[in-house]
Amino acid sequence: EESKKIVLQEDASLPAAKKAKLVGLAELRGQRIRVRGWVHRLRDQKGIIFVVLRDGTGYLQCVLSGQVAQTYEALTLTLESTIELTGSLQELPEGKTAPGGHELSVDYWKVLGAAPGAEEAFTNRLNEQSDASIQADLRHLVIRGETASAILKLRAALLSSFRDSYAAHNLLEVTPPCMVQTQVEGGATLFKFEYYGQQAFLTQSSQLYLETCLPSLGDVFCIQESFRAENSHTRRHLSEYTHLEAELAFIDFEELMSHIENTICEVVDRLLENPSSAALIKQLNPTFEKPARPFKRLNYVDAIKWLNEHGIQHELEDADGNVVKDEQGNSKMVDHAVGDDIAEAAERRMTDILGTPIFLYGFPAELKAFYMKKIPSQSGDGPVFTESCDLLMPGVGEIVGGSMRIADMEELIVAYGREGIDPAAYYWFTDQRKYGTCEHGGYGLGVERFLAWLAKRYTVRECSLYPRWPGRATP
Ligand code: 4AD
Repeated sequence: EESKKIVLQEDASLPAAKKAKLVGLAELRGQRIRVRGWVHRLRDQKGIIFVVLRDGTGYLQCVLSGQVAQTYEALTLTLESTIELTGSLQELPEGKTAPGGHELSVDYWKVLGAAPGAEEAFTNRLNEQSDASIQADLRHLVIRGETASAILKLRAALLSSFRDSYAAHNLLEVTPPCMVQTQVEGGATLFKFEYYGQQAFLTQSSQLYLETCLPSLGDVFCIQESFRAENSHTRRHLSEYTHLEAELAFIDFEELMSHIENTICEVVDRLLENPSSAALIKQLNPTFEKPARPFKRLNYVDAIKWLNEHGIQHELEDADGNVVKDEQGNSKMVDHAVGDDIAEAAERRMTDILGTPIFLYGFPAELKAFYMKKIPSQSGDGPVFTESCDLLMPGVGEIVGGSMRIADMEELIVAYGREGIDPAAYYWFTDQRKYGTCEHGGYGLGVERFLAWLAKRYTVRECSLYPRWPGRATP
């Protein structure tokens, strides 16, 4: 009852407080500062209130004692309330630890936005025991947590590192459209919608647009959302994902693979050189080691042999693509043959056994997209192979898919036909071969998959701000 009467007043005789964010506070030690943020942690120890404040840039331990800890607001303070605190920033005494090595000794504070207590309290809505669907519904609250926010910070650092690395190698960033009228990776996985009375799609890949930039801008890249209507409930499939794609002119297949390896290693180096991103990697994936170079290269045909030698089989499918089951309802497992797709499960097992990044290359044309260049001078019968590669990472599997592109116009027109594509809508892509063609190639990297590898996350769903997967488009 007494506490209700205490009204805090800021002491005007104290030095003026400097408004500050929680990052880089070390330079303000010994000074009076004013900070704003959310109550991340809260502990009352014999009348002294310890608040860990969070403002997105960092965390700060704040100590409320005496009168400032005895107000009604102090006694009813809840987690996730927004508060403003003023006080002097002090280096921690020897033997004590808190974020940044300092704490705020509060002389004045106020609540800016109280969060509810009781049944509606934050930790009643969301805690470590909350099941996956509740966590998905409450993604907007999950991202306030230390792990989720660290992943998002590392994601930002990762995107910056790619941009820096590309700039250093003269690749220019472009922003292709998301609303398109062409497919890239097969009609089956297109999201369709009505566009002013015409059919349009959400883009699967910006590759075709990047190709048109080569004669205009030289080598280019983009970081753009891609959309896949795949009914895949796996650890590594999203319906919308951030697709980092690059396209390079006047290269050969060997140069394409070296470029991918260099870019990935350079980005990892940049992240480790920067103290704040290095700390995020350490926090999320303490045993992370940069990948050994050169990356292992494994030809598709040799990979099929390897899978069979290691007893890694795949589910038998009938002509309609349905899995064949025995009387007990178990899938019938069979050896791999040249021409078979290496499915996610087999690919994952192979990557985990080999335990290192692998370039799997030279896939059969049958399995791959229409635009891929065939390996030159292959003899008559048997499958035709392509200058294509997937980069597989331990723990995740495929993170990059790339290839050399068909540079010859006639060959491209034949390839449209094989895929059942009407060339009319692709006139602009064909023109690329008509008006001064060139040998070129490129790749796409799934940002969430790369991050899942770097930060050792179980699923790509943790690596997206608001992940979308079949049946989930909220929040
Ligand atoms: O292998 P994909 O389908 O290749 C392309 O789209 C090419 N046109 C890219 C290019 O050459 N410019 O996809 C490339 C990468 C995959 O390796 C994977 O990392 C990611 O995109 N990816 C997905 N990530 C999350 N969810 C999905 N459903 C994904 N589909 C592909």
